[in-house]
Amino acid sequence: MSTPVIELQELRREFRMGDEIVHALDGASMTIEEGEMVAIVGRSGSGKSTLMNILGCLDTPTGGRYLLNGEDITELSDDRLSEIRGQYLGFVFQNYNLLPRVSALGNVELALHYRSRRKNKRALAMEALDRVGLAHRANHRPPELSGGEQQRVGIARALVSDPRLILADEPTGNLDSRSSELIMATIQSLNREDGRTMVIVTHDHEVASAANRIISLEDGRVVDDRRIEARTVVSPVGPHSAPGVATSPLSPKAVDGGAVRGVTTPDPQGL
Ligand SMILES: Nc1ncnc2c1ncn2[C@@H]1O[C@H](COP(=O)(O)OP(=O)(O)O)[C@@H](O)[C@H]1O
Ligand SMILES: [Mg+2]
Repeated sequence: MSTPVIELQELRREFRMGDEIVHALDGASMTIEEGEMVAIVGRSGSGKSTLMNILGCLDTPTGGRYLLNGEDITELSDDRLSEIRGQYLGFVFQNYNLLPRVSALGNVELALHYRSRRKNKRALAMEALDRVGLAHRANHRPPELSGGEQQRVGIARALVSDPRLILADEPTGNLDSRSSELIMATIQSLNREDGRTMVIVTHDHEVASAANRIISLEDGRVVDDRRIEARTVVSPVGPHSAPGVATSPLSPKAVDGGAVRGVTTPDPQGL
């Protein structure tokens, strides 16, 4: 069997708050293989964001081990970590984290700052925007875009360096259900068509049901881990807005009418 993308062994992360120590992660273990699409669920405060920050090499654990492609990240230098972040990992944030005065294209291009070959950056950024159906919005700034469009720019930015692993912390947390479906259709296509490994934190049942596996956290520990048959997300808008994503003439009705909702997926805990 090939090396897992992610292997966590008894991961711990403690925060000191005055006299108190908060055990944000309290011995969390899991293995995620290449090509999986995993939803991480759990109540607020259960450690989801702490976990994502460590998975994304933005933070380091205070105990346990994190092997990323078999490489123990706790032993790496900051330089090597930022190299890994830039080349191997993509992030999608709940609040998009876009620069408001920079165009959509510019925001995506900025994610390639570490690349030395200058001339390809703009073309790569345009390609990524096109992939999320936003080529026609390339010159708009974030305040001129809807929440769903801003998040698609966020996905394009995560995608532009062609990472094998994409991490998304509540990517649809600020979106209505229709925009949320479009984002999930895009995320699912990155998994199914490109074979990228996706890890998504969510509170939303619908979002979690698009994954192949649901891991539940409670008090910094994994309390449930199950594989499910993923719901195929049908893009709620036409192909112009979401190329590379499954579309169907029935889809707006299906989504609005609730036919896509509540498909036969087990009830994940902690949602
Ligand atoms: N930087 C920090 N300093 C102190 N405590 C923190 C910090 N980050 C998270 N925590 C605490 O760790 C626990 C888990 O937080 P978090 O990972 O943000 O949970 P979730 O994303 O599931 O809501 C919470 O009790 C939170 O208050
Ligand atoms: Mg969180």
